[in-house]
Amino acid sequence: AHRLVVLVSGAGSNLAALLDAHADPAYGARVVGVVSDRPGAAALDRARAAGVPTAVVALPDFPDRASWDRALTEAVAVFTPDTVVLAGFMKLVGAAFLDRFGGRTVNTHPALLPAFPGAHGVRDALAYGVKISGCSVIVVDDGVDAGPIVAQEAVPVADDDDEETLHERIKVVERRLLVDVVGRIARGGLRVEGRRVVLGG
Ligand code: GAR
Repeated sequence: AHRLVVLVSGAGSNLAALLDAHADPAYGARVVGVVSDRPGAAALDRARAAGVPTAVVALPDFPDRASWDRALTEAVAVFTPDTVVLAGFMKLVGAAFLDRFGGRTVNTHPALLPAFPGAHGVRDALAYGVKISGCSVIVVDDGVDAGPIVAQEAVPVADDDDEETLHERIKVVERRLLVDVVGRIARGGLRVEGRRVVLGG
């Protein structure tokens, strides 16, 4: 099966959805490793519970960002992934990482890019006052949530939403979209033609 390495920083609900999906051989992909920048991430417990090996590469343990990025790259490379999935990974990957895994790394983001990139997509969309937001899966490049868009889905904003309620509504859709997109990449490949992405599977 197509080998997935999942990068996480937080709760890991998107990882959990991938772990549910990979249990079915027909899915075509397996999570073979999980790497976090945060030793305390709950996502690591989900990986361990599923019997998936984990690694932690924490930025404060390194003298600078470039050496952290090289260590992260090595930690991911150990698992020999076909595709790397950033699922709530809250750091930007660097040049060493993109040299090795560029073009086959995707990220999920809780807004309709190119609107509201960055660490607070849900909060920023609410503050702007949009009535529709959603989620995006993108190919990771050297920008901030600026890579080619693989798939998106819209989610309505309710008048009484706060950041938490809107994020939860988005995450329900996001998990399904991410699982679907990653399965399609595994089964049929991912072709990037300039800004346009064509999915197989
Ligand atoms: C997800 O909504 C993901 O899109 C977001 O963090 C959440 C992680 O949830 N990522 C970003 O905002 C990246 N800029 P999870 O840990 O439960 O999967």
